[in-house]
Amino acid sequence: MREAAEQSAGSLPALAMAGYAASLAHEISQPLATILTHADAALRWIDRPHPDVGEAVSGLKQIRASARRAAGIVASLRALARQAPPALVPVRIEDVVADALQLVAGEADARRIAIVDRLAAARGAVLVDPVQIRQVLINLVTNAIHAIGERASSDGRVTIETSPLDGAIRIAVSDNGCGMEADVLARIFEPFFTTKSCGMGVGLAICRSIIEAHGARLEAISVRGEGSTFSFALLRAPEA
Ligand SMILES: Nc1ncnc2c1ncn2[C@@H]1O[C@H](COP(=O)(O)OP(=O)(O)OP(=O)(O)O)[C@@H](O)[C@H]1O
Ligand SMILES: [Mg+2]
Repeated sequence: MREAAEQSAGSLPALAMAGYAASLAHEISQPLATILTHADAALRWIDRPHPDVGEAVSGLKQIRASARRAAGIVASLRALARQAPPALVPVRIEDVVADALQLVAGEADARRIAIVDRLAAARGAVLVDPVQIRQVLINLVTNAIHAIGERASSDGRVTIETSPLDGAIRIAVSDNGCGMEADVLARIFEPFFTTKSCGMGVGLAICRSIIEAHGARLEAISVRGEGSTFSFALLRAPEA
C-alpha cells in the first residue's frame, strides 16, 4: 500500500492524462456537433421569406440543452483536475461513514431503500482525508441507490461493512441492485463512461483517483441481476 501511495503522490501518469484528454475530446465533441447542426438549421428556418419561428425556437432549445451538457462535462472535468492531494488526519472511520450516510439518507428514504451499516468488526482511527473519503462513500452509495432503482423490487438494501485487514480497515459498500455485465464492469472507472441517461460518468473515476491517492485500490465485483460490491482499505492511524 505504501508503494502505491508514493506512486500516486505526484501528478497523473502521462498515459492516464492522454486517456482523459482523449475521452474529454470525444465527450465534448458530441454536444458541440449537435449545437452546430441545430444552429445551421435554425438559421435556415429564420432566413427564408416566411420564417418558421416555431422550428427555430425548437432548434434553439436543442442548442441550449447541448450547451448545458458541454458545460456539465467541463464542470466534472474540473472536479477531477481540482482534486488536491489528500490532507491526511486521524479520524474514526465510523464518524466518516455516519457523515456520508446522513447526506444520502434522504434519497434512500424517498426510494424506500434500507441502508445498513455493519461497522462492528472494525472501528477506530484511520489516516485519511475525511472530506475526500466522505465523497467516495457518497458516490458509491448514490450509485448503489440508482442500481437498486433499476431493479424494481421492494427489498432494496445498501450495506456498508468494515473488516480488519492487517494494519488497515477494509470498507465495502454492497447493494442488491441490478449488478453489471462483465463488459460494463470492465469500463466503470473510465472517465465519462455511463449507462445512465442523466449520468456524467465521472463518479467512479473520481473515487478511484481519491482512493489511489490514499495509497489503496478501489475494487469492484458484480453479478448481473444480483448486485455489486465496491471495496477499499484505509490505513489505521498510528496509536497515539
Ligand atoms: N452499484 C452499481 N451497480 C450497478 N452498476 C453500477 C454501480 N456503480 C456504478 N455502476 C455503473 O458504472 C457506471 C459509471 O458509474 P459512475 O459513478 O462513474 O458514473 P454515473 O453514476 O453514471 O454518473 P455520475 O458522474 O453522476 O456518477 C454507471 O453508469 C453504471 O453503469
Ligand atoms: Mg455515479
